[in-house]
Order: sequence, then structure tokens, then C-alpha cells
Amino acid sequence: MELNLQFTVSDTKELLFKKNELYIFVVQPKIEISPNLKKVQNKSKTDIKTILDNSNFKAKFGENLLIRSSNQPFLLFGCGDLIYTNSNFEKLGGILFSTIKDLGFKTVSIISDLKISSAKEKKLISKMLFGIKSKSYEFKKYKNSNISENKINLKFIKIYTKNQSFIQKQIQINNHILDGIFLAKDLTSEPANILTTEEFVNQIKGFSEIGIEVEILDEDQMTKLGMNALLGVGRGSKSKSYLGIMKWNGNKKEKKNIAFVGKGVCFDSGGLSLKSGRGMMDMKEDMGGAGIVVGAMKSIALQKLKTNIVGVVGLVENMPDANAQRPGDIIRSMSGKTIEVLNTDAEGRLVLADALYYTNKKYKPKFIVDLATLTGAIISALGNERAGLFSNDDNLSNSIFDIGEETGDLVWKMPLDKVYGTKMKSSIADLKNIGTAEGSSIQAASFLKNFIGTTPWAHLDVAGVVWKNNQTELHSGGATGWGVKLLFEVAKRQNI
Ligand code: BES
Ligand code: ZN
Ligand code: ZN
Repeated sequence: MELNLQFTVSDTKELLFKKNELYIFVVQPKIEISPNLKKVQNKSKTDIKTILDNSNFKAKFGENLLIRSSNQPFLLFGCGDLIYTNSNFEKLGGILFSTIKDLGFKTVSIISDLKISSAKEKKLISKMLFGIKSKSYEFKKYKNSNISENKINLKFIKIYTKNQSFIQKQIQINNHILDGIFLAKDLTSEPANILTTEEFVNQIKGFSEIGIEVEILDEDQMTKLGMNALLGVGRGSKSKSYLGIMKWNGNKKEKKNIAFVGKGVCFDSGGLSLKSGRGMMDMKEDMGGAGIVVGAMKSIALQKLKTNIVGVVGLVENMPDANAQRPGDIIRSMSGKTIEVLNTDAEGRLVLADALYYTNKKYKPKFIVDLATLTGAIISALGNERAGLFSNDDNLSNSIFDIGEETGDLVWKMPLDKVYGTKMKSSIADLKNIGTAEGSSIQAASFLKNFIGTTPWAHLDVAGVVWKNNQTELHSGGATGWGVKLLFEVAKRQNI
């Protein structure tokens, strides 16, 4: 849940001062006393030059100097002199939120004193506002509010700018993107006793209110379609398995669409190939890929992007049970390819095998991007900073890589040589669901490749990035919402 922050935009000419509000001046190193600073200097009856001379404040990136004048409190907030990129300004916003949240002010105003072009400034300030709101999210739903510690008073954030209408519009876009990010965070944070497959379906059904066409395939329908790979994973669970389909038709003139497919394993116990206690502890997050897809669909619909997108999520729970599938079982996937299930913990690829095949066959998309918390090995390779990117199409993967750099949802290209795929061939079925321990993230990706034909496709192994225990400038720790911005941008530039 984010704080209910309200942003308003005013013209710089209207800058008035109110004693009980905090005025924040965003400044660069080598501070000059600008007309705006002069105004606050007069109001606060301070001498900024002397204050600066007596302090160590150099306006470095994220550095702040609070001047608690009883006439008028104000804060200088440095943005350093590193490259002024969007993602740096988002981070600055996050740092600014952390700086001011406990100061007790209900209303703060932000005034930019940046000596850069107005075109650049308005973009960077918008990103800063994104960062402020992004950092305000914390998942505190299950904490009794009367015993929760620090209550934050901050509610109103006023921005003084010469570019009122631009910033106003950007705040709207920020809100739409953040609504999707916060939804992905909520879903990934919810425990598996609450976010069951049924509950996940309920969440998706609610999307019809924002213009998304929703279709849910239940077990009977999937049985008829022959989706035994997906269904096999859910056999040990009391919760039913589903395929959730969300369609956004933002461009009625265009027939083609693009597809996002997500792994939605609401809990991964490993099945009969049971995980250890340690290994199982975090497995409520195994629907993280589906969470990103759902979050992005929400942002796309709220922003009414003029593109056609289909989002598909395979929703199952992987549990051990008398009815669960066994290591050694052979199943026939929807594609007709048979799979020897040697390890029931390598279940994500089974879910995706049918979800990808179905999506490709039914929608014939221009390209497919799938997202899955697929392997622990990708965490060993890339940590929590970058998702693994596997693709059969250089154009698509280059675009995704670049968009990752721009949005901060970072990826890293991994290989997909044919030879890795040979490890996934079974001696008694077409495929087996585990290979060898070496390069197992690549083997998993090679397995998926069998189900997408020649359609341009990118697979993002997001096991390391959906959750981060430590805080960052933009997140307070926990579910990250990684990937929503990435998919939103991919959708926006649909002619990739
Ligand atoms: N959901 C896990 C992968 C995972 C691990 C996600 C840690 C997030 C954090 C996946 O279903 C799995 O269990 N993969 C196995 C595959 C193996 C049996 C070939 C793994 O990575 O160990
Ligand atoms: Zn597993
Ligand atoms: Zn899993």
C-alpha cells in the first residue's frame, strides 16, 4: 500500500510561503542565490550564503540541508552533477521521500532551481515525482495499524513549475504506471493462503471495469484443449488450475497483437520432489511473472495505450498429494510433444509450455515475451539486479535490453545455443523437464523454445528480481514490481 499522496501543480509565479509547510529547493552544486532562493531567504530571515559557508552541504546527489527557521522552514536538496538521467531522477525522488517522510510536515512544496533547459527539467522533475510515490509503498496490510510504529503525516506535495500542463499530464502517467507496479507488488507480497489461484482469478476478473476483456479457462476447458503439462502441475493442490487471459484492444484498426505470458505458480512446494524448508520459504513469490503481466496490463489499460495486447497467465499451485504427478510420469502437452517429468519442482516450464503454445496458436502474436521465476540458477548468475533474457530474435532482445537500461528494469542477455537444448531430450519421450545442473537456466529456456515455433520470443527469468530483501532508493524492501515499466514501454513501442 502506498501513502495517499496528493500532487498538485502550480505556476512558479504563485510561489507563496506558509510557515507550517516545508519548501524544498532542488539545487545543483555551486549553488547560486537564485530569485526563488532570495524569496525564501527573505521570508525565513536567514542568510543562505552564511549557512552554506558554515556547512558541509555541497548539493551532492541526494544530499540535503534542512534549515529550521521558525519564520519559514526550507530544505535544500542536492542532485549532484552526475548525468541527469531519468532513472537517476527517479532515485532522487525516492531519496527525497525518505528524507522528508519523518519530518512531520503534512504539506511540502518542491521548487526546481536547476540550471538546465526547461525541456529537460520538466521531464526530470516528473521522474522525481515518480520516485517519491514509488518509495512511499510498503506492504503493511497485515500489521495492526494501532501498533504500527511511525505514522507518516505527509500528504500534499505541491510542485511549482513553469510547465504546469506537462507536469500535470506526467503525474497522471506516473500514477497509471505506479498503479500497475503497486498491483504487482501487492500480488507478489500476498501469502499463498490468501492469494490462491481462485483469488488470482478474481483479481483478473475485476479488470473488465477498466476495459480489459477477460477470459478464464478452467480445468475442464483446459483438459479439452489437451493442456496436460499445465494441469499436471496443479493436480496435487486443492486449488483449481486456471489460464487467465486479458485482452486490451487499444488499436481497433490493427489486427495484430503482441503477447505477454506469465508464470503464476501461487505456491511452489516443489510437489513430490519437495523443496527444503529454506528453499520453500519464499515460494509465494513464484507467481511473480504473472504479477508483472497483470500489473502491466493494468497500467496499459489505465493509460489507454493504442496497441493490442494479450496477457496470459498460467495459474496453478504445486503441492505434494496422493493425486500429485510423480517423478517419472510422462505427459502429453497441448503441442503434442510428450514430456518426461523427472523432477516435479521444475514445474514452471511445464506451465509455460502449454501457456506459450496456446497463446502462440490462438493469437498468432507479432512477438511473445514471457516472464517467469523459473530457476534458482539465474539468481546465482545475476543476483537480484538483472533478469536473465533469452531470445530467438536479436531485434526483440536488443529492444528489451535497451528499454531495460532506460527504465531501470535491467536485463542481461544470456545465450541460447542449440547444444543446451540437447540436454532436455528424453530417451523415452520427446523432452524431459530437467537436464544437468550446469547452465540450468539456459536449459530451462531451451525447453520453452520448443513451444513457440518461429514466433519472435523473449523469455525473462525473473527469479532474482521480483523480490529484494534490502531497501533501494526506490523500494522499501520486499516485492519490487520489477518489469511493469519494462512491459509498459515494450507495449508502447509496439512496432519493435
Ligand atoms: N520456482 C523455482 C525457481 C525459484 C527459485 C524461484 C528461487 C525463485 C527463487 C522453480 O520452480 C524451481 O524450483 N526450479 C528448480 C529447477 C530444477 C529442479 C531443475 C531450481 O531452480 O532449482
Ligand atoms: Zn519449482
Ligand atoms: Zn517454481
